[in-house]
Amino acid sequence: MYKKTLVSLLMVLFTGTLILKGQPTGNSTVDLLMSAYSARMFTSDPVSDSDLDLILKCGLKAPSARNGQPWKFTVVRDNALVAGVISNATPGNVLILVSGPESSQQGMNSDFDYALATENMYIAAQALGLGARIYTGPVSSINSGKKQTLNIPDGYRVVAVLRVGHVSKDVDASSSASTRKTIEEVVNYR
Ligand SMILES: Cc1cc2nc3c(=O)[nH]c(=O)nc-3n(C[C@H](O)[C@H](O)[C@H](O)COP(=O)(O)O)c2cc1C
Repeated sequence: MYKKTLVSLLMVLFTGTLILKGQPTGNSTVDLLMSAYSARMFTSDPVSDSDLDLILKCGLKAPSARNGQPWKFTVVRDNALVAGVISNATPGNVLILVSGPESSQQGMNSDFDYALATENMYIAAQALGLGARIYTGPVSSINSGKKQTLNIPDGYRVVAVLRVGHVSKDVDASSSASTRKTIEEVVNYR
């Protein structure tokens, strides 16, 4: 009994260590989450319509408070418009502008919903072998003067920008990712 418990404990510790080190676990979703990173270096290969469609569908699938699905997604492919939002964008990058109603409904926690939709698309892009990065830096300048040019639906404000594109196969994903706090720093139990 004692031996069995000890073996189970060692297995849990071993698996946990593997996961934290980013080594493959054999579970493709967990492996993807552990290797995901915010890309900066993109190539100019175009994102296919079929990949874009799948990414958007994964955004639609995000859970939301009371299934309110308060988001709109605006796809920007035009290189000049993309560069007007993210100055160092690479031609071929696609932006997905995630918006929500200007007058948010009380008690709906909509910011949470937008974040989940954005994260779904961020992860989906990487699952399809693309690179992605979330931005909130450009949001205020979009909302204060570029909404019409970017075709943001009337009565909506942009809350996040997702940049998607191809990344060079030479980019080393694990050294491109930023470091994370340790489990001990973040998690507590009672
Ligand atoms: C809500 C949010 C806003 C962000 N805004 C920006 C931004 O304006 N500019 C930028 O370069 N990166 C932005 N990022 C990317 C973060 O800097 C990045 O996720 C973080 O440094 C972790 O890096 P990693 O994902 O490569 O490990 C943002 C990420 C999130 C989740």
